Amino acid sequence: MAKLLDVLNEKLTGKNVRIVLPEGTDERVLQAAVELHKGDKVEPVVLGNAEEVKALADKLGVSIEGIEIIDPKTSELRDELIASFVERRKGKATEEQAQTLLNDPNYFGTMLVYTNKAAGLVSGAAHSTADTVRPALQIIKTKPGVTRTSGVFFMIRDEEQYVMGDCAINPTLDAQALAEIAIESAKTAKTFGMDPKVALLSFSTKGSAKTPETEKVTEATKLAQEKLAQETELAGTVIDGEFQFDAAFVPSVASKKAPESPIQGDANVFVFPSLEAGNIGYKIAQRLGGFDAVGPILQGLNAPVNDLSRGCSTEDVVSLSIITAAQSL
Ligand SMILES: CC(C)(COP(=O)(O)OP(=O)(O)OC[C@H]1O[C@@H](n2cnc3c(N)ncnc32)[C@H](O)[C@@H]1OP(=O)(O)O)[C@@H](O)C(=O)NCCC(=O)NCCS
Repeated sequence: MAKLLDVLNEKLTGKNVRIVLPEGTDERVLQAAVELHKGDKVEPVVLGNAEEVKALADKLGVSIEGIEIIDPKTSELRDELIASFVERRKGKATEEQAQTLLNDPNYFGTMLVYTNKAAGLVSGAAHSTADTVRPALQIIKTKPGVTRTSGVFFMIRDEEQYVMGDCAINPTLDAQALAEIAIESAKTAKTFGMDPKVALLSFSTKGSAKTPETEKVTEATKLAQEKLAQETELAGTVIDGEFQFDAAFVPSVASKKAPESPIQGDANVFVFPSLEAGNIGYKIAQRLGGFDAVGPILQGLNAPVNDLSRGCSTEDVVSLSIITAAQSL
């Protein structure tokens, strides 16, 4: 974790990237805002009722002087954001519905990002994944060429660092979506200083089993390799599959099961065939393998929005804010 953050801190020095923290009345979030405001990397924009936020700061014994606090219910930006929301939702929300939705700090905060008043958003300390992510899917939407957003975890243990996805968003995936996730995961790995070697995982290695499930991953590998050829920013990246995990990760198994592959047990980005596999897989690495799991980091959106776990600490809010700021550069 320290190494990942070192790389990002260096990139962000002096940038004061504006990141919205919609949960300003959560102790951990407010503490994180105070900490971030002291530095020069992330400038927090805290949402909440100013008096409630001030009362919490007094209770915590921290100073919030100089930190921008916006109350979604009374902000002078409301009319502009409501009009922009109705326009963006094109017939899917009336002005009356927008009035109500923009009382929700996640919707309000996401609109601040959409209208370029902030570069990214970090929420979820007190909201479910769905409530945090839905406004981003509806408003910020995916980048051109990406049909689905997905969520990866950085798995970190001492000097080892891997990316695993999708572990957070899409319950089911077809070959096209899996291929997109392979490309987006490679880009995320690269943003964070890695040299991506992407393995698409299955319960089969290079045709050792043939079922609709394995063939989906074989097809996704082909599509991802074709896409890779168009992605100049990913020059040097390797993508291959389908692999069982050991064939992607253990050189002696790779040499037996996939001797022709450019990946010989040195994969560092793992793409799972479904959300079930991904979510279970990263938690096994975390709990049995002793890896720190940082994320989920959402990828494929036009601007970064990231989801905290409800069990997060102040340190987690600070780290995810730094990661989100780095994604916006
Ligand atoms: C992400 C999630 C919240 C979206 O659910 P939802 O809000 O019911 O989704 P809907 O189908 O109503 O879609 C809402 C909007 O988001 C868009 N959307 C949904 N999934 C998307 C995706 N993966 N990528 C991009 N856009 C997506 C839809 O196109 C729709 O846009 P529109 O309103 O402009 O037409 C849902 O897929 C989910 O709960 N996933 C699992 C999350 C989870 O529990 N993870 C494990 C713990 S980390």
